Amino acid sequence: MKFERIWGVWFSPAGSTEKLVKTAAKALGAALGAPVSLRSLNTPADRKEPLCLGPRELLVAGGPTYAGKLPNKIMPAYRALLQGQDTPALALVTFGNRSFDNALAELGEILTQGGFAVVGAAACVAQHAMAGLAAGRPDGAELGRMEEFCAALGEKLAASPKLPAPPAVPGDAGAPYYRPLGADGAPADFLRAKPKTAPDRCTRCGICARVCPMGSIRAEDCTAVEGICIKCQACIRSCPAGAKYFDDPAYLSHLEMLRAHYAAPAESAYFDAVF
Ligand SMILES: Cc1cc2nc3c(=O)[nH]c(=O)nc-3n(C[C@H](O)[C@H](O)[C@H](O)COP(=O)(O)O)c2cc1C
Ligand code: SF4
Ligand code: SF4
Repeated sequence: MKFERIWGVWFSPAGSTEKLVKTAAKALGAALGAPVSLRSLNTPADRKEPLCLGPRELLVAGGPTYAGKLPNKIMPAYRALLQGQDTPALALVTFGNRSFDNALAELGEILTQGGFAVVGAAACVAQHAMAGLAAGRPDGAELGRMEEFCAALGEKLAASPKLPAPPAVPGDAGAPYYRPLGADGAPADFLRAKPKTAPDRCTRCGICARVCPMGSIRAEDCTAVEGICIKCQACIRSCPAGAKYFDDPAYLSHLEMLRAHYAAPAESAYFDAVF
């Protein structure tokens, strides 16, 4: 098979998924001798135009695991925007050292229903955006492993006259979301938690409002988080003054539970298609 273009597309408010998608797209581009285009789905403005791909293009689609699946407020954008015509796709999720549960199965299903043929899949350990577990991952070794996986996939695709059978991935796309627990082992409900702003630190630069994937921070007054907060940490990470923070007790209790039970380094998982 010959390819005209490789696309790398991600939702990645804390940046790990983006790193892996870019690495994968570039490695596939090199292996297949095709140019690479990149697209973020991070902000509402990024999520306006659909991406319609043909059979001679290849998509690397990436997203983070939130509560065991793709982020529920963003998942509809993957469904609506990514449209293929028997377009081969690599499904890639990241997870923060606990588990990717059903996220990869869900992404695979969305891609398949959107007209893509899943030709490879990966679930990679990445720094937990909320709890900081797996700090520094994906590291150089992980990015190298992704490069090798994609180089091998590219070689097989180039040599194959037809699309392979999709890889078998663990999980159930229809399963419910993981229910976060607190330090006491009881469910911790922090769905409505929002970041606060230290007024003495905030310089009113407006960066947090620009990066919020939900468009929930008011541009004229960044202390006001008016819409839905998905706890993605983009505002916290991008604030140059360190002025944003969460103090919701259930949220903090969940982080304590994660740090107590999921500190041991987890393994990434790569899944080959059947050529
Ligand atoms: C709201 C939220 C929920 C999360 N849920 C899970 C989870 O269920 N399992 C897990 O291992 N990591 C979980 N994580 C960690 C993310 O999957 C991980 O940090 C991911 O790499 C973030 O992607 P990004 O850096 O591209 O934004 C969660 C993170 C957030 C912010
Ligand atoms: S307000 Fe919530 S959704 Fe918006 S950037 Fe901050 S953590 Fe993410
Ligand atoms: S990024 Fe930080 S300093 Fe800038 S407006 Fe937002 S809270 Fe204030």
